[in-house]
Amino acid sequence: MNADIAEKLKKYAIETEDALEACFKVYTGKSELENAMKYALLGGGKRIRAFLTLTFAEMFGVERKSAMPFACAVEMLHAYSLIHDDLPCMDNDDMRRGKPSCHKKFGEATALLAGDALLTLAFGICASNRYVSDKSNVLAVSALSELAGYRGMCLGQEIDLSENAGTYDELKKLYSLKTAALIKAACLLGLYAACDSPDDSVLQRISEYAECLGLAFQIHDDILDVKGDSVTLGKPVGSDEKNGKKTVLSFMTLSEAMDEEKILTGRASKAIAGYSESEVLSELAVYLLSRNK
Ligand code: IPE
Ligand code: IPE
Ligand code: MG
Ligand code: MG
Ligand code: MG
Repeated sequence: MNADIAEKLKKYAIETEDALEACFKVYTGKSELENAMKYALLGGGKRIRAFLTLTFAEMFGVERKSAMPFACAVEMLHAYSLIHDDLPCMDNDDMRRGKPSCHKKFGEATALLAGDALLTLAFGICASNRYVSDKSNVLAVSALSELAGYRGMCLGQEIDLSENAGTYDELKKLYSLKTAALIKAACLLGLYAACDSPDDSVLQRISEYAECLGLAFQIHDDILDVKGDSVTLGKPVGSDEKNGKKTVLSFMTLSEAMDEEKILTGRASKAIAGYSESEVLSELAVYLLSRNK
């Protein structure tokens, strides 16, 4: 089972990479800003969020091509979040995806702007998806804006950097914002590529899947920050401790955290059980439990 999902992830990641590259049609290579954007966006990353967008689109009956601009938008937004997350004023991390972080390579100002430019490009690419209805474009742009912004991912990042968390419940709220929100956007954009008037029960089930997957994903990220290997991970280990962050391991043992991930993964699978393609999405959730990067 794991081999199949790993193959499928690889295939979709290659397709996504090609589509991302094609977004730079008018790339001139003459500005450091363009170079920094491409540096941070291309040639790395698991492309989990793109996979979710593409697979949810297939689940609701459209081919991947229709959802690809949405998948690219989510990956651009994610790449921007990583550039900014690594900056000295945030986590101050020097490595990302196996190479020097964007600010290490291009300097802080250019890295900051590359993040800004990827964020704005994401909305342009999302809004101009010509394979879907105008209403789908509007739904996708709105969901991305809501979930990535001041009530979503950005708020999560702000809380992470300020009060962080005093209890495990607070930590879950923070992870729901900083990580699960963008994962939810990835899933919903797949749905919107296929359907511009989804009913509430569908939205609820997808949201539950995304919330549980997102929490499990961040818990695993915390575990890898302690137990992982920086070469395999492509980013430093010990970042959370260095920054005095409370993580899941501040509130429970490693084996309890692994159990917690499994429980969340089971809940994720249950939320979408019965839909076509739901097996792939369940397999993805299980596969992510054993990832080492
Ligand atoms: C890293 O995300 C940031 C978190 C939310 C933990 P990924 O682990 O998906 O990073 P890439 O895209 O594969 O590099
Ligand atoms: C990142 O959380 C969440 C984002 C929204 C970028 P982390 O700070 O733990 O992610 P990594 O470990 O640097 O990838
Ligand atoms: Mg961070
Ligand atoms: Mg970080
Ligand atoms: Mg981390």
